[in-house]
Amino acid sequence: MLSPRGSAAESGTSAVRHLISTSDLSDTELTALVTRAAEFADGPVRSGEQLTGLVAGIHFLKTSTRTRTSFSAAALRLGAKIISFGPDDLQTNTGETLEDTAEVLSRMLDILVVRSAGDPADLRTLAAQPRMAVVNAMTADEHPTQAVADLATLLGHFGRVEGLRICYLGEGNNTAAALALTLSRFKGVHLELRTPFGYGLEPAIRGRAAANAAASGATVVELHSMDTPPEGFDVFYTTRWQTTGTSKPDPEWRSVFAPFQVTTALWDRSPEAVFLHDLPAHRGEDVTAEVLDGPRSLAFDQAENKMYAAMAVLEWCAGRR
Ligand code: CP
Repeated sequence: MLSPRGSAAESGTSAVRHLISTSDLSDTELTALVTRAAEFADGPVRSGEQLTGLVAGIHFLKTSTRTRTSFSAAALRLGAKIISFGPDDLQTNTGETLEDTAEVLSRMLDILVVRSAGDPADLRTLAAQPRMAVVNAMTADEHPTQAVADLATLLGHFGRVEGLRICYLGEGNNTAAALALTLSRFKGVHLELRTPFGYGLEPAIRGRAAANAAASGATVVELHSMDTPPEGFDVFYTTRWQTTGTSKPDPEWRSVFAPFQVTTALWDRSPEAVFLHDLPAHRGEDVTAEVLDGPRSLAFDQAENKMYAAMAVLEWCAGRR
């Protein structure tokens, strides 16, 4: 046994910081992460030594193209080494407790990036040890690092987040939750969510976003109809209707979602608006190909920004920034 464990002190890191919900971040920390991600995106440097000497576990219990690759690439680009675990790799599958798993992994890893398939509270259990930072790479209730990438994309394009008018269309899923919880903290932001009835934001998320907005001077509204089309927006944002590929119990769900498709017709009322999508997209469902592949789409820059957001998050969690 090596005790006391010295890697944090020896490698110059400060206290462990977890990113499980954007609510874990102060306004200053959120702004710093978004700004740092935008700096990485804007700058010529795509690598560094900030994480040299650290080992990051990349533990994904659900499919991922962008988030898993972005954290793996970010860790490698900043000098860390990584170990990847898929859904069949850990003894939690054979009954080892999450508490014991956390205790063991924290003696070997500095950071654990997790996409959960189960109870979001599992990440808090993994974080209940003093050595290893835990990062939420998407739970059922929130996708915090997606929001860092999204806000960095807005900052990069508009030069600010404050005062933007953003219309989110589609399911009130974990991406929508993270957007609502973060955008509501920026003064003058107007976030309008158009979500199909029965597929809106969780009431608890809506309540937290409303509290943020009351404190910051933002506004957040949610409507369940497209009868009056949205107009005068700077940004349209949507996500795949089948979040993480899951189907919906209602066999008629597609007809419920159909009015919320992002089409060029929306632009008649917001001619300067840009388009964001967290991807993966389903052309012809959540968005038309004309929009996704059109000149106003930032969706693929936004996907690239996930790596810069991951670089910013890893630096911060490791106390190397
Ligand atoms: N946007 C996003 O989280 O993509 P992946 O599911 O591919 O990671």
